Parts: sequence; C-alpha cells; structure tokens
Amino acid sequence: MTRSVMQSEFKMFLSTIPMAARDPILGLNEQFTHDPRPDKVNLAVGVYYNEAGEIPLLDCVAEAEASLVASQLARGYQPIDGPTAFQDAVLPVVFGSTASMSEARRIATVQTVGGTSALRLAADFLRRWAGADRAMVSAPTWDNHRGVLDGSGLYVGTYRYLSLGAEAPDLDGMLADLSSASPGTVVVLHACCHNPTGYDLPADAWSAVIETIARRQLIPLLDIAYQGFGDGLEEDAAVVRAFLASGLPCLVATSFSKNFSLYGERVGALSVVCPDAEYAGRVRSQLKTLIRTNYSNPPSHGGRLVTTVLSTPALREHWQAELESIRLRILRVRQQLAAALQSHVIDKDFSFITRQKGMFSYSGLGVTQMQHLREHHGIYGVDSGRICVPALNSRNLQQVADAMADAFRMQVATMSS
Ligand code: LMR
Repeated sequence: MTRSVMQSEFKMFLSTIPMAARDPILGLNEQFTHDPRPDKVNLAVGVYYNEAGEIPLLDCVAEAEASLVASQLARGYQPIDGPTAFQDAVLPVVFGSTASMSEARRIATVQTVGGTSALRLAADFLRRWAGADRAMVSAPTWDNHRGVLDGSGLYVGTYRYLSLGAEAPDLDGMLADLSSASPGTVVVLHACCHNPTGYDLPADAWSAVIETIARRQLIPLLDIAYQGFGDGLEEDAAVVRAFLASGLPCLVATSFSKNFSLYGERVGALSVVCPDAEYAGRVRSQLKTLIRTNYSNPPSHGGRLVTTVLSTPALREHWQAELESIRLRILRVRQQLAAALQSHVIDKDFSFITRQKGMFSYSGLGVTQMQHLREHHGIYGVDSGRICVPALNSRNLQQVADAMADAFRMQVATMSS
C-alpha cells in the first residue's frame, strides 16, 4: 500500500468521527464565555466565588507560594506516587489526626491530578486487580462520574438516592438497590456535600450502608471533593472515618480543588485502605504502574502548595479559618436566596435550600426551566437544576431570584396544564 493510499484512508476515517456532545458542566462555561449579554450569571460549574464574584487566592496559599518562589526549587520529576511529604500531609486531613500509625501504614495514598484522576485511577485499579466490571452511582450524581467509570471499562448502573421533587435522600431505596447488587460491584458514595443534590444521608444512616456493603461484598469508592464545605472540615470526613473504623477495605478519592481554591493546579489524592501494611505496599506498586503508564507522575507546584500549608502550623490554622469563612458565607447566601424566592412565590416552601449542604443547591427546576433561564435571562445552571450557590452575591442575587421565581411559576403552570 502506498503512503498516499494509507493517508486517504485515514482521512476518510477522520471524516467519520462524529462531534462529541458538549460536557454538561464545563461545556456550559464555554457557552457562558461566548454569551455577549453583560448581565449574564454563571451558576453552572462548582467553583467557589467570593462576594466580589472572584475565585479567591487563599491567603495561606499566597503565603506558601511566596515561600516556594523564594526558595527557587528545581522542577525535577516527582515520585510517581507523589512526594512522601504530600502523602503524609494529606492522610490526617482525610482520615483524621487520631488515626494511629498502624492505621496509616495500611493506607496507600498517592497524589493524583485532581479528584477526577483519583476516581479514574481507582476505577482502572479495580477493573484490573479486583475483577470489577460494574459500578453503581447515585441517581442523580455528578455528571462526570459515569464517564470516568465507563472510561475504565466498567458498566455503570445506579442506586436510588433522590426521587424527583423529594427533599431528602431515599435511604430505603438506596439500601434495597445496594442489597440487590452483585458482589464485587463498585459503589460510588459521596462522603459529604452530595453533588448535585446537596442532600446528604443523615449521620445515623451510614451504619446501614456500611453493613449492606459488607454483607453484599461490594467495593466502596468514596468521593470527597467538598470537604470543609458542609458541616466543617472534621465533620465532613466522618463517613470516611466510619469506613476506616469498620475495617472494610475501601478507596477514597480526595480533591483539593475546592477547599484550597486550587482548581487549575489539579491536586488530588487516591487512598486505598487495605487490611495491613503489606497489602498496602503491593497496592501502591500497582497504582504506580497505572500512573506511570498514564501521566507518568503528578505535577509539582500545586502539591507543594498543599503540603506547605498543611505542614506549617500557622498556615494550616489560617487555611482552616479561611475555609470556615467560605463555608459560613455559603450558608448566608443560601438563606438570602431562600428568602428572596419566598418573597416571590408564596405557594412553595424554599427552606430546602438552607438544608442542602456544600456548594450546590438542587433547585427542583427541570431541564426546560434551566434552558429558559439560560436563553431568556442569561442565567447558567446545570440542566439537572443544580446551581452553584457561592456564585451569587449582592449584585446578582435579586436578579437570579426574580428569574428563578419566573421559572418556578412556569414549572407549576406546565404541571397543572
Ligand atoms: C462540578 O461539579 O461542577 C465540579 O466538580 C467541576 C467539574 O469538574 O465538573
């Protein structure tokens, strides 16, 4: 076959590639950027904005960065699994500072490229080494979960979590679905601040979830991307610690994008909780192989920032205080939004907004109303009805509440027609 024939075949092949659908979350960012309307509001992506409408550079991060810049560190390759200092700094944040040394030794923690690659690494690892061929995610869940798991070759099903219009998770439905899952199924659980709904399971429900997972021999994969945004840094990790205490092997995907406001640095971690240190060593070796053949080793800057903040007592204290003020601002904005909507629409109770946890409010609006908000008001939320609460501020809150009230009325009119 001559070269030009091969090239023309490849050209023909390229001509058959269809256009992929726009990403349901980040794709809206692209659409928002191109929207010429001056009063447009972006409530789509899960990013914390301060009252000034800006993504903050945390003081503790700025300070850590200044010291890193001053020390002019070389940019050699990092260890495949990230530096030990990073792993040691992350472990107590996720698993608790009281976790004993023997507990720590049975956990294989590796640095990843944000929380997304921690999930993907977990799925690749389970597919290859645990014979996993199926996973279950909550219905609904973060829009990217399905793609990440599917990309690893897992068949992705769902377990009941929140039925349409409900204001609390369906624990019975969830337990029933987990009880009928086949052994070895990977179960993705949101450890706090459920994305997209903001409705977490009550604390006392988790023992039943853990018991069901153990009984059915399922594989728990905990996603903790919003630690510190719900009830507090320690409180939000209670579920991870309950799994650790249960003695069950589990996997934990951590993100530092949100709680360090380091989105673009892509800093995350995957921890695999093993029966003992010997297992953990072998698991780590396989995680390293998977990393090496994918992105080789993690980038250095963001991980160094996180390590510096977490391992410098004054910076760590400052971080916790900054994170707490972020959490409290979100609570205030929730109250303001609920009040603004309530003053418009009297036949609906909006207090649910203040009971949801974390970055998001699951508004209850459907895809038609969300599209209406985008097209007619320049207000961008996710089609599932999810909006990013901290993207609201004193300049846009009334505008958003007015438009949402309009959308709620539209929804009621559609339902009663
Ligand atoms: C979100 O849910 O909006 C964030 O986690 C950002 C993302 O990557 O989807």
